[in-house]
Amino acid sequence: MVMSPAGLRNKNDFAGKDQQLLPQISYSVYLLGLMVTVVTGSTDGIGKAYALELARRGVNVVLISRTQKKLDEVAAEIESKFPVKTKTIAADFSKGRPVFDIIEQELKDIPVGILVNNVGRQYTYPMYLGEVPEHELWDILNINIGATTMMTRLILPQMQKQKRGAIVNVSSGSELQPLPLMTVYAASKVFVKSFSDALRYEYQRDGIIIQHLSPLFVNTKMNAFSHRLQQTSLFVPDATTYARNAINTLGKANTTTGYWAHGLQYFLTMIPPVWIRTYIGGLMNEIFRRDYFKTMPKE
Ligand SMILES: NC(=O)c1ccc[n+]([C@@H]2O[C@H](COP(=O)([O-])OP(=O)(O)OC[C@H]3O[C@@H](n4cnc5c(N)ncnc54)[C@H](OP(=O)(O)O)[C@@H]3O)[C@@H](O)[C@H]2O)c1
Repeated sequence: MVMSPAGLRNKNDFAGKDQQLLPQISYSVYLLGLMVTVVTGSTDGIGKAYALELARRGVNVVLISRTQKKLDEVAAEIESKFPVKTKTIAADFSKGRPVFDIIEQELKDIPVGILVNNVGRQYTYPMYLGEVPEHELWDILNINIGATTMMTRLILPQMQKQKRGAIVNVSSGSELQPLPLMTVYAASKVFVKSFSDALRYEYQRDGIIIQHLSPLFVNTKMNAFSHRLQQTSLFVPDATTYARNAINTLGKANTTTGYWAHGLQYFLTMIPPVWIRTYIGGLMNEIFRRDYFKTMPKE
């Protein structure tokens, strides 16, 4: 059953019902799954794949994204495939502060076990800072930094009270060095890494797992600027493959790429010094920028 846009038919529907469904995940994550998982940015890409994969493992999910129609479709897909419950919350994180009052109200009394701070915004294509439209920069700040911070702040008190919970912060391999032509996006992901690592110190004593997840390229619409990244391969997995692997690391690794082939790439990437990596990152983005100009329709 799909919950109405306004929310759950009965908030208690979520609590503690699906014990028989869950033995596929580690025990600590299983216990969290008995509560509810909240996934931001869950109507496409990694977030949608995360929601579907968690539901496949028997976990109830709250889907938060900006478009109600897409939320309804994902909720319907989940509930038609798996015996779990969903709730949808339409919220545009680029709007900043006001959306969190709505989310707080909607999540009131729902026992959240896992929060996946997945929502993220990238440049439309690799650009020099002066070329990036101002609204895109505000979106990146509000979504990548603002939503991650404020969703965490909103959920933490109840996890602290429950003395358990897990927060997955989706960063990016772009955090590994400065990344020219994606300068602000990469810097926002450095924030996510630092935020996660410091938060772990603050809250792990309350039984809260803080996972910093740092994927490299995944074949999603975020990378539509280059045809090269729209072809699934070992190193550019589809979102489902990525999510399946990443979810297996929850409760086992505090900081991870989430996917073994990305782990290999991470290892090789970290061998040269930062200035070389920065230079190579810039060259790579010049190529993606040319791809965009070659294949994308002119505005
Ligand atoms: N794809 C990669 O190669 C890659 C690599 C490293 C890290 N990441 C990170 O992984 C996360 C997910 O990326 P993705 O590639 O799956 O992205 P995606 O395919 O573009 O999906 C983004 C999701 O976020 C939602 N969203 C976008 N703007 C929103 C807003 N203002 N308010 C609420 N929801 C919004 C989208 O909703 P709509 O469906 O309405 O658009 C969609 O559901 C991001 O944090 C990204 O930085 C991705």
